[in-house]
Amino acid sequence: MAKGPSFVCQSCGAVYNRWRGKCEACGGWNTVVEEAGSHPLAGPASTRPGRARGRVFPLEGLAGDIKDAPRTRTGNAEFDRVAGGGLVPGSVLLLGGDPGIGKSTLLIQVSAALARAGHRVAYISGEEAVAQVRLRAERLGLSSAPVELAAETNVEDIVATLSAGATPRLAVIDSIQTMWTETVESAPGTVSQVRGAAQALIRFAKSRGTAVILVGHVTKDGQIAGPRVVEHMVDCVASFEGDPGHHFRILRAAKNRFGPTDEIGVFEMTDHGLAEVPNPSELFLAGRDGATPGTAVFAGMEGTRPLLVEVQALVAPSPLATPRRAVVGWDPARLSMVLAVLEAHAGVRLGQHDVYLNVAGGLRIQEPAADLAAAAALVSSLTGAPLPAENVYFGEIGLSGAVRPVTQIPARIKEAQKLGFARAVGPSPPGEAAGAPALSHVTDLVTVIASAGGAPGRARSPAGGRPGRPRDRSEPDYA
Ligand code: TYD
Ligand code: MG
Repeated sequence: MAKGPSFVCQSCGAVYNRWRGKCEACGGWNTVVEEAGSHPLAGPASTRPGRARGRVFPLEGLAGDIKDAPRTRTGNAEFDRVAGGGLVPGSVLLLGGDPGIGKSTLLIQVSAALARAGHRVAYISGEEAVAQVRLRAERLGLSSAPVELAAETNVEDIVATLSAGATPRLAVIDSIQTMWTETVESAPGTVSQVRGAAQALIRFAKSRGTAVILVGHVTKDGQIAGPRVVEHMVDCVASFEGDPGHHFRILRAAKNRFGPTDEIGVFEMTDHGLAEVPNPSELFLAGRDGATPGTAVFAGMEGTRPLLVEVQALVAPSPLATPRRAVVGWDPARLSMVLAVLEAHAGVRLGQHDVYLNVAGGLRIQEPAADLAAAAALVSSLTGAPLPAENVYFGEIGLSGAVRPVTQIPARIKEAQKLGFARAVGPSPPGEAAGAPALSHVTDLVTVIASAGGAPGRARSPAGGRPGRPRDRSEPDYA
C-alpha cells in the first residue's frame, strides 16, 4: 500500500489521496484532514516485515465444543443486565454518551464494585488527573475500594503496565479519544490515532483475557465522535443517555456480540452517584396527575422489561398558517402519521392546531406500540376530557387506522396491574378469538374518549357495567 500522507475523514474514517472539502462517504464538510504516515487500514501485518508467507492453520466444522462465555458479574445489576449478564473476559465495550451525562461516574462505581469483590481492576483516565478521580471516588464513598488508578494516555505504556503482574479482570479507558499510540504518527484525537489506540487495546484484551471498557465522546448529532470505525471493532457498543434536566439515566446496548441489544439499565443521578432503579415504572410515573386532559400512560417494553411512562399531549388552536408540531422523546415521523390517521379515519381535525407531544421523565420511546397512547393523549387534549386514571394504553396504529397487535402483552398487563392500573386499552393478543374484548380500530378509541368527555368521574366505574354502550367492548377489563 502506498505510504506518505493520506487524507482521512475525521467523522467516518474514509481515506482519500488528496484533500477535499466534503467527504464523499459520509457527506461531512471540512472533516477531511491530512494524516501523516501509513494509515492503519494496512493492519497489524504491516508491523511484521519479512513475513511474506502465511502460516497454515486448521479449519473446523460448525459442530463441536462450545465454550460458554464465562461472565463476571460486576455487582451493579443494571449494568450487568445491559452487558448481557456480566463482563465477558477479553471482551471490549465502547460506552458512548454526552459529556457530563455520568459515564465516568458509572464506570468508577462499576470498577469499585468489581474491585471490592476481589478482582484486579485498573482505571486509566486520560482526561482527569488522579486527584480528580480520587475526589469523585470520595464523594461516592468508594475511596476504600482497591481500584488501581492512573492518569495516562500512551497506549504502549498502558498495555505494558497492565500486562505486568496479575491479569486485570477489568480495565477502564476514559476516554479513547485522549489515547495515542506510537505506531501512528498523526495527532491524538484524529481518527487514525483513535483507531490505532483502540486496535492496541483490543489486541491486549483478546490476548490477556481482560475485559476492557472504552469511553467514547458523542458529537452533537449523536454519533460516537470520530471513531465510528471503533464501533465495528469492539464487541459491545452501549450508550449512556438522559436529559440533563432530569436525573434519570439510561444505559442502552446498541450492539452486543455476547448478549441481547434490547435491554436497558435505568439509573438515577443522585448526590452520591448513580443509584440503580429496579422499578423504573414507579420513577417515570412519580408526580403524575391523572386528572389532567392530554396525558396517557403507555405500557411499553424495553427489551424483556416492561416500562410504564406517561405520554403528554397539548393540542391548541394555532395562530400560524403552518401549525407547529413539536415532539420530545418520540419519533416526529410517527406523530405525523398518527395525526394523519386520526384525521383521515376518525374525523379528528387537528390541521389548524399546534400539537406538542412529550414523553415524561426525559425517556426516549422507540416502540411503535406507543402509537395508541399518543393518539389517546392527543384526542384527550383536543376534547378536554381526561382519560380514566386506571387505564394504560398500547398498540400500533396502521395507516388504515387498524390497531395492530404488539408483542409481550401479558408482561405489559402484569406491570400495569402491579402499579395499580385496572384496565389495559389495546389490541387483542395475536391468536386470540375474534370476539375477545379489544380495540380493533382507532375510531373505537376516539368514540370511547369522546363519550367519556365532560364527565371524567364516570370513567372510574367498572367497565362493562353500563348497558347501551356497545363501545365498552373496546375497553378490555382484565382485572
Ligand atoms: P461524569 O461522570 O463526570 O460525566 P461524563 O464522564 O459522562 O462526562 O458526571 C458529571 C456529572 O454528574 C456532573 O454534572 C455532576 C454529576 N454528578 C452528580 O450529580 N452526583 C455525583 O455523585 C457525581 C459524582 C456526579
Ligand atoms: Mg468523564
